[in-house]
Amino acid sequence: MSIITKAIFPVAGLGTRFLPATKAQPKEMLPVVDKPLIQYAVEEAYNAGIREMIFVTGRHKRPIEDHFDTAFELEYELEQAGKNELLQLVQSIKPADMECVFVRQPKSLGLGHAVLCGERLVRGEPFAVLLADDLMVGEQPILKQMVEQFEQLQGSVLAVQEVPAEQTKRYGIVAGTMVNDRIMDVTRIVEKPAPEVAPSRLGVAGRYILTPAVFEQIRLQPRGVGNEIQLTDGIAGLLASEKVYAYRYEGKRYDCGSKEGFLEANVELALTHPQVGAWFRDYLKRLKLD
Ligand code: UTP
Repeated sequence: MSIITKAIFPVAGLGTRFLPATKAQPKEMLPVVDKPLIQYAVEEAYNAGIREMIFVTGRHKRPIEDHFDTAFELEYELEQAGKNELLQLVQSIKPADMECVFVRQPKSLGLGHAVLCGERLVRGEPFAVLLADDLMVGEQPILKQMVEQFEQLQGSVLAVQEVPAEQTKRYGIVAGTMVNDRIMDVTRIVEKPAPEVAPSRLGVAGRYILTPAVFEQIRLQPRGVGNEIQLTDGIAGLLASEKVYAYRYEGKRYDCGSKEGFLEANVELALTHPQVGAWFRDYLKRLKLD
């Protein structure tokens, strides 16, 4: 069994970059090809050995709870109609050994605050955080790679990737000493720095494995960038007393909180989709783009 058994999914954000689609439905329920973003993230955690999924939700997020609940009428109808493949598909969304717990973030006070809302449920163990709007694809699931790193390093692990200089403003940026070509011993982390002051170009993607000491650190921090309680600031606080590592993951990230990233994900995942991939490739060839 994995030593990381719990994952927090902060899904209480407002998703303003994706309006009007997110006016009355959660951004995390937007489908990439045929699966909602949140399901990709939950599957990634499950494939990393995690069985307890903690969702930090807010208003308008009921569809996420429904998605991971039994759909009694639907399952009954599919069973009666003998549509066994579809029935299995629906039932596989929540395997029997997976537990889903929901806690509310009363106000969108920031990612750090959302993580803090999961504190009691984490019960003092190291835990994962997955931001579902970052869709991560790797030959080996990204979070599984990180769990393996955590087992060896015994310190918090942040997924990072190189970002273009003009984009440092969108990320938490880390600096420190490279231990090998994938691992950095982090000595500094800054939320959304301008390119001139960014300590490096390694930006944090939406996957974290954190020790429970981070909760106290989040509580100690004043409001940060955007007047929000930032997870990055909590991690910066952790650096004084614990090791934090940045891990350059093997794989690709799609920023599905942005329209561009969402479109890229749909095109690339459609091309490899077992049902529609061949048709879609053919369709793109037939499209006469200049
Ligand atoms: P984002 O920065 O993408 O914010 O949050 P957002 O509100 O979802 O989207 P935009 O920027 O308005 O378009 C990163 C992650 O943190 C969660 C979001 O749900 C997302 O997964 N989050 C953010 C919370 O759960 N609560 C918050 O108060 C803020």
